[in-house]
Amino acid sequence: MTDPKKSRRELMLGLGSFGLSAVGMAALSGCDGARGWREGLGGRGAPPPMDSGDSGLLDTGWSDTGVEEVSDCEVTGNFAEGPYYLDGAPSRVDLRTAGELGTNLRMTLIVRSGRDCRLLADAQVDLWHVMQTGLYDLTGSDMHYRCNVQTGFDGRVEITTLRPISYYTETGKLMPSHFHIKVSAEGHKTVTTQLRFANDPDDDGEVPPELLLETTSTSDGTQETTFVVTLAAS
Ligand SMILES: [Fe+2]
Repeated sequence: MTDPKKSRRELMLGLGSFGLSAVGMAALSGCDGARGWREGLGGRGAPPPMDSGDSGLLDTGWSDTGVEEVSDCEVTGNFAEGPYYLDGAPSRVDLRTAGELGTNLRMTLIVRSGRDCRLLADAQVDLWHVMQTGLYDLTGSDMHYRCNVQTGFDGRVEITTLRPISYYTETGKLMPSHFHIKVSAEGHKTVTTQLRFANDPDDDGEVPPELLLETTSTSDGTQETTFVVTLAAS
């Protein structure tokens, strides 16, 4: 049965033309160099700050329903950035690296304004996640599994990578598979948040359901997902 609320949001976005399925629709209410650091785990070089990050909600924006945001275009909530964001990630849309095996995943991020639901071209999207070792690449040269890209005229960018794995921190905390994204656009507040996966048995429920990715699989096993990032007007 069609979810009338979802349908209304699709209309507001005009997303029908993008062929979105249920994927990403849950997100409508709402997209890290020393190599080898895992969150909460030591590694080479100077130690990064402790991982205070992947376990706590920031109180900025999550329930922000400022008057400038219309009700059907709710702003995406912030979630802890974690310690492994690095500025200056390369512009690329295929993050896969030779020699690393994993599940191919194609993510479409759509960026829109919380002011009027308008799709935002030229928004800056940073995305970073762990390698298949469960470590963040912090070496500074290759910056594996990190990118900084701009949305196109249609407010979207498509990124191909390997699905991040779950891993244990040095304190024994199981970190479910997740992406970090930082999205900014002129005239809007930057959103930094974390995206996890729906139906992930490792998920601990720390992030709100609006930040869970739904996936579908293609015939070759590639997972596809779409997420809509809505930025509050500044
Ligand atoms: Fe992380």
